[in-house]
Amino acid sequence: MEWMIDTANLNAIKEAVDMLPLSGITTNPSILKAELPFDYETQLKAIRALTPGLTMHVQLGSEDCEGMLEEAAYLQNLLGQDIYVKVPTTEAGVKAMRRLKDRGVNVTATAIYYPLQAMLAVSAGADYLAPYCNRMEQNEIDFGKAIEQIRDMIDLGGYEAKILGASFKNAGQVVRAIDSGAHAVTVQPAMLRSVLKSALVTDAVAAFTKDYALVTGK
Ligand code: E4P
Repeated sequence: MEWMIDTANLNAIKEAVDMLPLSGITTNPSILKAELPFDYETQLKAIRALTPGLTMHVQLGSEDCEGMLEEAAYLQNLLGQDIYVKVPTTEAGVKAMRRLKDRGVNVTATAIYYPLQAMLAVSAGADYLAPYCNRMEQNEIDFGKAIEQIRDMIDLGGYEAKILGASFKNAGQVVRAIDSGAHAVTVQPAMLRSVLKSALVTDAVAAFTKDYALVTGK
């Protein structure tokens, strides 16, 4: 089970890296946009500097295959050869995934709404597959069933690709994605913290703290 954070906020990243058992960090252009104003390269490098030892998944903005290949090389030069290039699972994206894998680039196939997209991405060599759980739900696509189908295909085919559940808007969606077979999830840190800080949890702990003081005399 891998936990990743889905943010480009430097303070949130610092806190999350300190607190959570993380394996990676994901961004996309819209997540980055929320942090403007900044210089793009400086922001990405700052994120990389705050996340040593974690996988960093950075999304391409180019729409055509050649542009994607060039942008992937640019990002690797900027951030290191070990980054995961997030490639939208479009026609151009699937074409680019195959070429990127031929060059040994780590690939995260993103913007997945349909199991068939994931299956094509796996065959193209993608390392991670990011189904957009909340967006699927909003469009009446059963993301849990889709993750089950993708997982079956990976396991039956003996592939090493991992499902990275993404686009979560509540904790129930995260749990369902994991229960359905996601190997990893990427979540906004605030959502994880809201569960850890829920009234049920804090009230229970407050009662234990009070009783601890009584039983220990402290
Ligand atoms: C992460 O890899 C995805 O790009 C992200 O989770 C999408 O989230 P959104 O649906 O909230 O934009």
